[in-house]
Amino acid sequence: MKPPHLNPRLASLQIYPFERLRTLLAGVTPNPALRPIDLSIGEPKHPTPALVKDALSAALDGLAVYPKTAGLPELREAIAAWARRRYALDALDAGTQVLPVNGSREALFSFAQAIVDPVAGAKVVCPNPFYQIYEGAALLAGATPVFLNDGLPFDSLDWRGVQLAFACSPGNPTGRVLSLAQWRALFELSDRHGFVIASDECYSEIYCDEAKPPLGALDAARQLGRADFRRLVVFSSLSKRSNAPGMRSGFVAGDAALLKPYLLYRTYHGSAMSHSVQRASIAAWNDEVHVRENRRLYAAKYAAVLPLIKAPLQTEMPDGGFYLWIRTPIDDGEFTRRLLGQYNVLALPGSYLARESGGANPGRNHVRVALVAPLDECVEAAQRIMQLAGSL
Ligand SMILES: Cc1ncc(COP(=O)(O)O)c(C=O)c1O
Repeated sequence: MKPPHLNPRLASLQIYPFERLRTLLAGVTPNPALRPIDLSIGEPKHPTPALVKDALSAALDGLAVYPKTAGLPELREAIAAWARRRYALDALDAGTQVLPVNGSREALFSFAQAIVDPVAGAKVVCPNPFYQIYEGAALLAGATPVFLNDGLPFDSLDWRGVQLAFACSPGNPTGRVLSLAQWRALFELSDRHGFVIASDECYSEIYCDEAKPPLGALDAARQLGRADFRRLVVFSSLSKRSNAPGMRSGFVAGDAALLKPYLLYRTYHGSAMSHSVQRASIAAWNDEVHVRENRRLYAAKYAAVLPLIKAPLQTEMPDGGFYLWIRTPIDDGEFTRRLLGQYNVLALPGSYLARESGGANPGRNHVRVALVAPLDECVEAAQRIMQLAGSL
């Protein structure tokens, strides 16, 4: 029998990090004397706030209607008002500069499909290490992903042929936040080469110093006199901010000239958000009390865990997000295997979150640890990680 026709680009997708992790750990028996602690996945575990659940259950009648892709005007206004507050924007128009999306992941992916023109030589820039969806989005859109290793200046890259550049700030896995100077450099390159910037900011509300919220791209654009947000779209989400990853709710905001065709794309793709979820999202974006409480819980974990991680390991307090990006003295895959086998702690090898570029994989000899488990488990995991490090 002839095999079915398939989109040949599907074959270019890379194996997802968690599948590689399963393969790596096949045959490793976790130490049964110790309780298992899983810090491998960036899934928030703090409780979803009651106000979000209540708003969702009060809006179940919404299941009876087809929602519009553009979302309810009330949701768009709640999102625009939140972004104006958060980024001190003079203006962000709910009608043209904001769209609800079903979590930032689908939006990061679908945005690339709407934006990229798959001509020969089309390139999409991804940070490195990075969130693998950027690479898959680029490949399926018909572009070649190009990687910019962490720490290298933007102008070290050849930007010719680049149509889209992903930024991730705060970064997964490094937790680094792009500075105003870095945004200025990226905007200037975008002006020169015409590429679109997709700024993934789904960790923007997770940070330890209440006085220092991470700089966002919209804020940077405003400060640099680019209030029209030309060629810039920001991706945000309730998953981490409001501990609601199962709600699949986020937004995109920025250049109206890009959001209009993107809305057209989304209409065909069929990615409207249920009215029930929209109502719950309005409640979530309108409240900051639960977000501050969420930050307090993460800050307590960093305060307890960070001092425990010492030489021969190396790590630092991230600017944002809920990860520790730890440098290991041995191969990260081997470290991960021993950590599970000897200490029943699950982490993610850093090299699985990065690509070889410029002769190096910038994730090599790192592991990513997500501080999502309860505080006592995070502390115990850090102690076990240090036991392993001490035995190397
Ligand atoms: C960097 C990054 N971007 C986007 C997402 C997707 O989040 P969501 O689709 O839940 O908004 C994640 C999820 O872990 C992430 O780590």
